[in-house]
Amino acid sequence: MNELTKLSKIKAYTKSKLGADKTGHGYDHIKRVVTMAEKILESEAADKLVTLAAAYLHDTIDDKLVSDPKSALAELQEFLASLEFTSAQIEEISFIITHMSFAHSLQDDDFQLPLSGQIVQDADWLDAIGAIGITRAIYYGGHHGEKIYNPNLLPRTNMTKEEYRNLDDETIINHFYEKLLNLKDMLNTQTAKNIAEHRQQVMLDFLDEFKNEWNSVV
Ligand code: ADP
Ligand code: NI
Repeated sequence: MNELTKLSKIKAYTKSKLGADKTGHGYDHIKRVVTMAEKILESEAADKLVTLAAAYLHDTIDDKLVSDPKSALAELQEFLASLEFTSAQIEEISFIITHMSFAHSLQDDDFQLPLSGQIVQDADWLDAIGAIGITRAIYYGGHHGEKIYNPNLLPRTNMTKEEYRNLDDETIINHFYEKLLNLKDMLNTQTAKNIAEHRQQVMLDFLDEFKNEWNSVV
């Protein structure tokens, strides 16, 4: 089976898993992550098939999106084997998608992603910042019933993964300080760092404007 056929079967698999998502992790997000991974790949010597496969699949086993991540991963590994991926490739893809999330980075920093994984992580994190990042945070926050803003609630620092996922006192604006503004300095590749500069400014301008309006500063 050639690489193009493998990727088009993987694409269909992801669509079937995430096509109905209403939290900002739908197929449009996947498409942007794949396109960005392709762009970053132009300047990096990583394995293209593994990188793009991981980009397509990165949210299909996420614990906030599927009820049983373990069985989702087992099903995915079986699927990749049926596409004639080698066990080394399956292992690399599995490692990337189980370790690349921001949530995971809060609980375990004692590992390094292979270059392929660093690229997918950068592509995913670039989609969480800038204008699209702002929109996704509002979409996700609305879906989970977060308040828009409460100046008396300070952003949380040094969160565990469990605290990060606990949204009881979360506000959409605090999410920027707890995660989104920090992503720029966590990126791996130069291509991603360059793209992040402008997106960071878009978020800072948005937050400035938001607070001015909130405080009726005209
Ligand atoms: P990761 O998979 O890297 O851990 P997340 O699940 O934290 O990523 O985030 C995925 C998307 O959901 C991002 O665009 C992010 O901004 C948004 N999101 C996550 N948590 C919140 C939150 N508490 N409030 C608003 N948006 C959130
Ligand atoms: Ni994602």
